Amino acid sequence: MRFLSFIQLLVISASGALSESSDVEGCVVGERMDVNISALPEGIDPNNIRKCAEHPLSGLVEPMDERACHWGDPAGCTRGYCWKSCGLPNSGNWCWTATHDGWGDWIRCNANSDCRTSYACGTGNCAACGCSC
Ligand SMILES: *[C@@H]1O[C@H](CO)[C@@H](O)[C@H](O)[C@H]1NC(C)=O
Repeated sequence: MRFLSFIQLLVISASGALSESSDVEGCVVGERMDVNISALPEGIDPNNIRKCAEHPLSGLVEPMDERACHWGDPAGCTRGYCWKSCGLPNSGNWCWTATHDGWGDWIRCNANSDCRTSYACGTGNCAACGCSC
């Protein structure tokens, strides 16, 4: 690996060959955030967009894995990351929350009380983005 040039690494990660491991940007899961800067909503600073699109716990965390529906607490902390219920009442939908209207970093936490329903759902083109179950 260390014998590959930076350009070769870029080509390999663009082809998806390394999509299951850390890429050159150090993403734990998936790939870098691919954002059309000129199509960003007003007020979102491109400098605040997170580096990696996917949530580091995407698909890994029980009972939040496979986007299983969740009923109960409206917001909480699971393995250091905030999530919240969202969508229609009693729909069971939930999302991982992120700063900067969902474009920024995934919100970290130590306790359920650190997480708020006012936080935005993570947005962008990633499996853990958006509100669903
Ligand atoms: C990026 O967004 C702008 C404005 O919406 C659009 O004109 C342009 O075609 C987009 N570029 C790509 C590569 O999608």
